[in-house]
Amino acid sequence: MTKQARSGPASVWNNIEGIAFGGDYNPEQWPVSVRLEDLELMQEAGVNFLSVGIFSWALLEPAEGQYDFGWLDEVMDNLHSIGVKVALATATAAPPAWLVRRHPEILPVTADGTVLGPGSRRHYTPSSAVYRRYAKGITRMLAERYKDHPALALWHVDNELGCHVSEFYGDEDAAAFRGWLERRYGTIEALNSAWGTAFWSQNYGSFEEILPPGLAPSTLNPGQQLDFQRFNSWILMDYYRELVAVLREITPTVPCTTNLMASSATKAMDYFSWAKDLDVIANDHYLVAADPERHIELAFSADLTRGIAGGDPWILMEHSTSAVNWQPRNQPKMPGEMLRNSLAHVGRGADAVMFFQWRQSFAGSEKFHSAMVPHGGRETRVWREVVDLGAALKLLEPVRGSRVESRVAIVFDYEAWWASEIDSKPSIDVRYLDLLRAFHRSLFLRAVSVDMVHPSATLEGYDLVLVCTLYSVTDEAAANIAAAAAAGATVLVTYFSGIVDEKDHVRLGGYPGAFRELLGVRVEEFRPLLAGSQLKLSDGTISSIWSEHIHLEGAEALQTFTEYPLDGVPSLTRRPVGSGAAWYLATFPDSNGIESVVDRLLGESGVAPVAAADPGVELTRRRLADGRSFLFAINHNRSGSSVQAVGTDLLSGERFDGTVPAGGVAVIAED
Ligand code: GLA
Repeated sequence: MTKQARSGPASVWNNIEGIAFGGDYNPEQWPVSVRLEDLELMQEAGVNFLSVGIFSWALLEPAEGQYDFGWLDEVMDNLHSIGVKVALATATAAPPAWLVRRHPEILPVTADGTVLGPGSRRHYTPSSAVYRRYAKGITRMLAERYKDHPALALWHVDNELGCHVSEFYGDEDAAAFRGWLERRYGTIEALNSAWGTAFWSQNYGSFEEILPPGLAPSTLNPGQQLDFQRFNSWILMDYYRELVAVLREITPTVPCTTNLMASSATKAMDYFSWAKDLDVIANDHYLVAADPERHIELAFSADLTRGIAGGDPWILMEHSTSAVNWQPRNQPKMPGEMLRNSLAHVGRGADAVMFFQWRQSFAGSEKFHSAMVPHGGRETRVWREVVDLGAALKLLEPVRGSRVESRVAIVFDYEAWWASEIDSKPSIDVRYLDLLRAFHRSLFLRAVSVDMVHPSATLEGYDLVLVCTLYSVTDEAAANIAAAAAAGATVLVTYFSGIVDEKDHVRLGGYPGAFRELLGVRVEEFRPLLAGSQLKLSDGTISSIWSEHIHLEGAEALQTFTEYPLDGVPSLTRRPVGSGAAWYLATFPDSNGIESVVDRLLGESGVAPVAAADPGVELTRRRLADGRSFLFAINHNRSGSSVQAVGTDLLSGERFDGTVPAGGVAVIAED
């Protein structure tokens, strides 16, 4: 998939040489002497791209209508003098104190009516007309001032929209929610029908009666909850678009983006629906230090980001050189881990490697968060690794613009994530990501490359398609998935998929509604397991969380439940479809069971690992349009590991000898 080239904004990549390298630069914290030293250090590290001014509104506009751009002029000029390009922020991610004092109505309100105050950041609601007016004001001033500045390469609009607060319950939000509903449904009757308000006397006589789903005596209407999630995701993007309109007017050729937080931890924003409004996809990613498999979570997040980008190269806008300061215990990265993390992102499609932040703060909330220049300055492991990373990225210039190759697609849908986890379901243990990540993990460990694909996007070219817990699905997406099987793919659908349509209305006549025909099964009754219970399946697999009473209607059973009352009932089925096949998994197998299902699926679809290697080596391949390919081999072992590849290691400049050193990385330009 390639996004249509847009007329208007140029590609950010036109402005940057090689792989972009840098981070958030917050020079307003420092005296001029330090800023001058920054320039020296940036050159030493090979920095060529920085995000500037993200939280600097209060200094740029210290009082309403009074501006001080002097320091930013100097910073922009100095960065330009050393050849650094700038992603200039709109400065709108933290409203200044004077604005809050004058207009407290811009503050966000939580579900219980609490107003979130200033003194931190992100203290505004995107619905606020007043906030938008002021935000557009500072955005316009910045655009007018720097429109011709040679360092300006990208607009960094606001920052991590939806971070800290992603649901908005104030009066102005409620009005915007009602407006959004009216546009979506047209009539109140259509809304009543979509939300199933005939149940529990929830019928509305007019849109004016509707409120956001705040606190209530019992569970709230699921249609209302789902639409509120859609609305919140939309209103953030609507605010983004309003700022972009100002930027387009003044700098039509400068691309715009905002940094996403795509990962297993961010659920609130439908980034697939946002992608069309971003000129380039940018993502922020932070490891959870306590997770021994954090590199696998990184791979998942990077694959998801590439999916949102439609396969195009993307910007890793932030990650950390070492520890963060917002987890309970903030362990620094292990030696070499930063290089592995950075190049894992590049191996998964990033053409820019950036950090929060350039220089570690000495004051403020984030002074114990790592940075490219640590408190200890040059005499630190982190600085030495930053300089080495800059040098490594320079050597990877030939990789730029190449695309990651995958023959496996995992279908990913934020709407299904939201809908499947709204309350009052058969089991709280059914979590959208659990099976999906179990399959991703298995494929990661086998060095099989995976793309994350929205259910309505084309599945052409994939030999294996995994559809996990896709509880809600549109008719079109279900047809798209069925077409992939008919065209020759092996498609696996897991339990609690295809159950409802986009209104969260059950597809009647037997589960899994939308996929019943494709799979050749009919589920009569769900039988979720009690906490801690396990089942034994006919091939010895242990499973948990879910079972169900299936009837075969065209599929064959490959494995069955063995225990009362489901003894002999299929737990894994397969139906040939066109030149492909549709498989159905009706329980959550333990990791051995997942491996055995993945063995079978890979066997049938003929999908092979990216290359042969020792266990513990992460492998991806990027390929240029002219056919040249680059194998990224990231050794997570603490001993040298072998990889079968023939070519030249771009990082060492030598012929690749078949071994990646302990904890090291090779990027092999293949012969
Ligand atoms: C987010 C923000 C940054 C910084 C980092 C710290 O990504 O965008 O400003 O707070 O978190 O990890």
